[in-house]
Amino acid sequence: MKLAGCNTMTLGIFSWVTLEPREGEFNFSWLDRIMDDLARSGIFVILATPTAGKPAWLAQKYPEVLRVTADRRKRLHGLRHNHCYTAPAYRKCVGIINRKLAERYRSHPALLMWHISNEYGGECHCRLCQEAFRTWLRRKYDNNLDNLNRAWWTAFWSHTYTEWEQIESPSPIGESLLHGLTIDWKRFVTDQTIDFLRTELAPLREITPDVPVTTNFMGTYPGLNYWKFVEQLDVISWDSYPCWHSNGDTTGCGHPSDGEGRDWKVAADTAFSHGIMRSLKGGKPFMLMESTPSVSNWHPVHKLKRPGMHRLSSLLAVAHGSDTVQYFQWRKSRGSSEKLHGAVVDHTGSEHTRIFREVARVGSDLRKLDDLVGTTVPAETAIIYDWENRWAIDDAMGPVYKRNKKYEQTCKNHHYPLWTLGIPTDVISMDCDFSSYRLIVAPMLYMIREGVAERLGSFVEQGGVLVCTYWSGIVDQNDLCFLGGFPGPLRKLLGIWAEEIDALYPQERNGLIMEANNDLGITGEYELRDFCEILHAESAHVLARYKGDFYKGEPALTANNYGGGKAYYLAARVEERFLKDFYASLVDGLSLRRALAADLPEGVTAQLRSDGHRSYIFLLNFTQSPQVVDLGGRKYVEMLSGSKLGGRIDLEPFDVKVLS
Ligand code: GLA
Repeated sequence: MKLAGCNTMTLGIFSWVTLEPREGEFNFSWLDRIMDDLARSGIFVILATPTAGKPAWLAQKYPEVLRVTADRRKRLHGLRHNHCYTAPAYRKCVGIINRKLAERYRSHPALLMWHISNEYGGECHCRLCQEAFRTWLRRKYDNNLDNLNRAWWTAFWSHTYTEWEQIESPSPIGESLLHGLTIDWKRFVTDQTIDFLRTELAPLREITPDVPVTTNFMGTYPGLNYWKFVEQLDVISWDSYPCWHSNGDTTGCGHPSDGEGRDWKVAADTAFSHGIMRSLKGGKPFMLMESTPSVSNWHPVHKLKRPGMHRLSSLLAVAHGSDTVQYFQWRKSRGSSEKLHGAVVDHTGSEHTRIFREVARVGSDLRKLDDLVGTTVPAETAIIYDWENRWAIDDAMGPVYKRNKKYEQTCKNHHYPLWTLGIPTDVISMDCDFSSYRLIVAPMLYMIREGVAERLGSFVEQGGVLVCTYWSGIVDQNDLCFLGGFPGPLRKLLGIWAEEIDALYPQERNGLIMEANNDLGITGEYELRDFCEILHAESAHVLARYKGDFYKGEPALTANNYGGGKAYYLAARVEERFLKDFYASLVDGLSLRRALAADLPEGVTAQLRSDGHRSYIFLLNFTQSPQVVDLGGRKYVEMLSGSKLGGRIDLEPFDVKVLS
């Protein structure tokens, strides 16, 4: 570990049966030995609660802990992440093992923080969960079924509930199209998972109040609204497994990307998730809890990271606000499903491997970056990526049916040009405070929860620039359509009425033609696909118009002056070239701070961290070729080599430089 430059180990995840081989019988001797060894060697431990993988004895004795799937089948014992979050028996056993761990290691010198469970996710539809869901609903709707029926629009298809007991969670063999139900169920799953997390935390907070806690998230994982977890956690951490070198084939990568899969696209999409993780705690650094030193075992193709890529990927996380680089896994397990997953130490059992050397290099780089710990990414720009909005968009049966409407990808597409320009960008929910930003981009803001339109209005009034797109302001928080014209409560702010939306077949295209002398200074034509909304410019002025179809000449891009700011509306899904020109123009107009005011070759990006006084610029080359960047007249210290740099500098393939 010392050779690898690893000073922190995460320990004990999934170790429940080894800690408690039979109910009430505990064996900590093996963990004592590892903790003691690590402490003696000056290595810290992030100690996990073992609850993400349960012992067979527990499932055997308390069958209620087994999950029931949406089609109402009770699962057998097996795999992991497979317990019911509601089951009192599970909560009782979790409370006991977590208490034992806290009591045993409360004063251990190696204990640095708690790692709660592992990658919370999934849902359970058992009888206990149904009851908990109904209780949750009663609370939400003031114990008044009329309130619920109204919010869910249940008179449609004669779905009106006349007793609470009639309500069941969504199911493929039951109800799945009542959008009020499906979205409330997802909200409940988040809340119930957090309630379970609180059970996990109770003994730890009581016995070790000064030891911080985290749980490892999964980027844009759609199943849980991570914003709701924030107040329970001291530090945000996440597991990042980008599909490097995938050349466009990212199917099954867990990180949807319709970019060409070139590494800088993968990097930008990964940076989007880093942005969420940093924004969750208002800019506070996060931890990269898991990354693979080489390959995963669940990507479609396990392509080796090319030399240098591991370092580049690790420092990409640091550039975006991570204060750690950690691995799954230290050493390969000899058997079972992860025996071929990348690890710092391979089955060969020595440090004489390429992977080990790559890891050791990152370790030695991180040692030189201590000054960055605690610094943040000074973002004046934010993109709204909102879980509930995503759920509602995914449910909606329009403007396409059973096709991905690409909400996440659209947010990433708008993020990409900002990332290539080196504009520090947060990724926030629609409930966040907008006041520290100057530019807010809210792609496909389909759902507008109460108060959001007003807050966006005051943001623009006070001088902010807002960018909205097609398919915004369609439903309220109950997934009920706004009456009186879309984009609903944003209509006045955007100065438009969106009367209809046209969906295009995958091979169809339209065009957007810029108006002469528009205030963006952009000229020419751009290609449109997927969605074209037909607008009336009310108080907004028109910057571009449709090229073809029966709505040829109608507005496709508008801007509305509102108070001291401006609100743009992009009515159609447009090619990347436009987004690049558009955001370059906005960035210029607002004089937004860039990490480095230089022209960067395609595939090279600059990113910024700062403590408010001192700035650290990361130059990252995601191409397989050498590149040149002109730093201009300014002189910098390159922190990884200690050399002084200025003027034209060379970047090796997959190179990183950190300039102070
Ligand atoms: C997840 C889990 C780990 C491991 C890795 C493999 O992130 O948390 O336990 O299974 O995936 O990539």
